[in-house]
Amino acid sequence: MADPVITLHRDAPIGIFDSGIGGLSVLRHVRTLLPHESLLYFADSGFAPYGEKPEAVIVERTVAIAAFLLTQNIKALVVACNTATAAAIAGLRSRYPDLPVVGVEPGLKPAAALTRTGAIGVLATANTLSSEKFLKLEAQVAHDAGVRFLLQACSGLAHQIEKGELSSRETYQLVERYVAPLLAQQADTLVLGCTHYPFVEQLIREIVGSDITIVDTGEPVARQLQRVLAQRGLLHDAAMADAPTAKPLLAYTTGSNSTLALAFSKLLQLDAMVQAVSGPQVSC
Ligand code: DGL
Repeated sequence: MADPVITLHRDAPIGIFDSGIGGLSVLRHVRTLLPHESLLYFADSGFAPYGEKPEAVIVERTVAIAAFLLTQNIKALVVACNTATAAAIAGLRSRYPDLPVVGVEPGLKPAAALTRTGAIGVLATANTLSSEKFLKLEAQVAHDAGVRFLLQACSGLAHQIEKGELSSRETYQLVERYVAPLLAQQADTLVLGCTHYPFVEQLIREIVGSDITIVDTGEPVARQLQRVLAQRGLLHDAAMADAPTAKPLLAYTTGSNSTLALAFSKLLQLDAMVQAVSGPQVSC
């Protein structure tokens, strides 16, 4: 498929997308680090979760969402979803070679630098953990750092978070079931390999106690975005910018717009203008 000619402007918005509300855990760091940038968030909640869907479906969704966000004139795209990054980022980059695309992947390298026992638990979706991209990274880091990764697919956890159940009994039991075997195998570091999971970090902390290190990649992803925009001369000119608080926060969802608006206010204490879009071609 031919790549449409893309013209990028430094005052254009940055697109951030996830299968649902998980990418808000990345957006909060982007907003803190780059307060002058306009952000467009896309939650594919109508098609969530991605964690156990066939790879072809995730690729199709990712391409459709990128194409939609390009019609909104984004200057860069953050794939704020480990599952979509693993499945589709290479294809996205070859389809849109001019568009800066930043993905997320589980923080294995930072975890390898932090562990003392040499055993690291990785919490992610089944698709992320079985992807070629992840397995290659895992083998490389395990070899280079001499550490052992214990992979735990957390089926159902992103769904609990989508439902807003951040501390319910059911979510607690699910998390407990997933982390207990990791602790039993001496893991002293847990990697949050899904962007939904930072929203239950407090719950995880309650279960694992204060001696376990928890690694999230939201902040490093925001810094990588800043580097990429700077290299391409695409950072918003802060000197020309209005006060950061004046920046409107726009969001699209293939699910319910009131649910996404509530997630913004509950999870980030932010107001967003949310519009519902229909899929799978993502037209307004
Ligand atoms: N938030 C997504 C990730 O980082 C996946 C959640 C899902 O849709 O299963 O992998």
